[in-house]
Amino acid sequence: MRVLVTGGAGFLGSHVCEALVAEGHRVTIQDDFNDFYSPHLKEENLQKLSVQKAVRVIRGDIRDRAAVSRAFEESRPEVVVHMAARAGVRPSADEPRLYHDVNTLGTLEILEHARRANVQRFVFSSSSSVYGRQTQDAGAPLSEDDAVETPVSPYGATKRAGEHHVRVFHKLHGIPSVCLRFFTAYGPRQRPDMAIHKFARLIAAGEEIPIYGSGATPKDYTFVSDIVSGIVAAIERPIDFEIVNLGSGRAIPLLSIPEKLAKFLGKPLRVRHLPLQPGDVMESLADLAKARQVLGYAPRVGFDEGLERFVDWFQHT
Ligand SMILES: NC(=O)c1ccc[n+]([C@@H]2O[C@H](COP(=O)([O-])OP(=O)(O)OC[C@H]3O[C@@H](n4cnc5c(N)ncnc54)[C@H](O)[C@@H]3O)[C@@H](O)[C@H]2O)c1
Repeated sequence: MRVLVTGGAGFLGSHVCEALVAEGHRVTIQDDFNDFYSPHLKEENLQKLSVQKAVRVIRGDIRDRAAVSRAFEESRPEVVVHMAARAGVRPSADEPRLYHDVNTLGTLEILEHARRANVQRFVFSSSSSVYGRQTQDAGAPLSEDDAVETPVSPYGATKRAGEHHVRVFHKLHGIPSVCLRFFTAYGPRQRPDMAIHKFARLIAAGEEIPIYGSGATPKDYTFVSDIVSGIVAAIERPIDFEIVNLGSGRAIPLLSIPEKLAKFLGKPLRVRHLPLQPGDVMESLADLAKARQVLGYAPRVGFDEGLERFVDWFQHT
């Protein structure tokens, strides 16, 4: 099928493109290569793609109607995988308007074009951030049926707004759609602002690791290839409309991550404890029952194995 992947030059998007080409799909990327982190890294993500020649790249902002029209005209997509977004919980508190602009209005622009193009499937990258802070039942896995009306960051609010818009377009225009709530992804090409990548950089440089809170709170970390397998299933399985968690189903205490990284990197570890930041989601754990049922999803990569694969990539870049 012809697939348009917005944000395809990013961490997750570049892996998705690789997998889709391997599955025989014809892939076009729309990405604006913005400087949220170094655009050079995004160029590198694509240069290093094993499938580089099979992927068409259209440079442009998803908020720019003309650029989006061009991407749709040139790619004539049957499927849209919408991954372009301002990611990151903490920076969204400083720039809520920008996050709203890109993540909410940009999503509407893509949805409008998807409707006119009569796409057969729309896959939206949502986030576990829609669940907000767990106040009751701490430690219980987060299920798609749980209340999600109390996000604690502008980022979480934009992702929930995106889900609402995708659902409305499905209801009004019948676009078969899947919203996937990713639980913190890691692996090769991980965004440099994300904790695991940041910790690895600091440990390699012999610097202190800042840990917000006690470091004991557990979070669900998902290896990139498992997320990708869920996205591919969301394209290929018969689905009308679903919201589905994609996680690992296992929670890892934050502090154990720098400890493991230091071991894999063969470096000493120094930690500094700092107060929790507003908007930080303290703990998360994905309930995967629906993912198993709807997508046949089964995460395969254990945390230590995934972390070693990340470190291997980190040491060779
Ligand atoms: N990485 C995670 O753990 C995680 C967790 C939950 C949800 N998500 C979501 O998954 C998606 C991909 O995340 P990622 O970690 O790969 O981030 P990323 O920043 O590496 O990728 C996003 C890509 O979108 C592009 N982009 C951003 N704004 C754009 C715009 N206005 N126009 C065109 N392109 C634009 C960026 O240049 C980038 O290449 C995002 O929607 C993110 O919110 C990621």
